[in-house]
Amino acid sequence: MSTEIVDFVAEKHLEQIIDILFDVRKSDPGYPPPVDSGFGRDTLAEWLLGEHSLARWVAVDKGRVAGFIHVTNPHKYLTDVAHSPGSEDWGESPLGEIGKFFVSPHSQRTGVGKLLFEKARSFTRGSQLTAVLAVVVTSEKAVAFYQKQGMRLVATFQGVHGENLVYADAGGESVDR
Ligand SMILES: CC(C)(COP(=O)(O)OP(=O)(O)OC[C@H]1O[C@@H](n2cnc3c(N)ncnc32)[C@H](O)[C@@H]1OP(=O)(O)O)[C@@H](O)C(=O)NCCC(=O)NCCS
Repeated sequence: MSTEIVDFVAEKHLEQIIDILFDVRKSDPGYPPPVDSGFGRDTLAEWLLGEHSLARWVAVDKGRVAGFIHVTNPHKYLTDVAHSPGSEDWGESPLGEIGKFFVSPHSQRTGVGKLLFEKARSFTRGSQLTAVLAVVVTSEKAVAFYQKQGMRLVATFQGVHGENLVYADAGGESVDR
């Protein structure tokens, strides 16, 4: 496959990424998660870029942007769970949260997500971070994807958008659900 993973550059990629988010929303109405200000281009740009990322990448397939992923410092909902009893199995390393992960519906199931995810996971491993992420339980495609990538289910929590599953890259034990 001809897909390349490259660093995100807003001037080059932002408009195409927002177009993709609109398309993703048509096929996955729960994604991105609802925000109070609705789903205009400015709101989506703010959702995408309005927080500090440790790194951001896009997938480019034959010159067209096909997906996005980033790594951040962990959000409070994850550090709260990580510091709760029983979470010492997540490992000793600091956490890097993988998020804002989506692939154009036209390119899904062609391996683009795997390439993006491998890039993010190799970044966390190289930075001595344990990759973690939260996914709402109803995001069936994403849950199937993370299980296929060998991520471990380490916790669950009730978030504003429903029950979340927390997956970690290494050092954790699966929990029974
Ligand atoms: C999750 C997502 C990014 C996966 O991207 P993708 O490019 O389709 O994933 P890949 O093609 O690399 O899939 C790799 C493997 O994951 C699993 N997988 C991916 N999508 C799946 C689906 N819809 N159903 C079952 N398994 C799936 C499969 O095992 C697949 O391998 P296979 O196609 O050889 O069987 C994509 O479905 C998406 O953008 N979903 C909407 C947004 C979202 O939910 N993001 C995550 C929020 S936490």
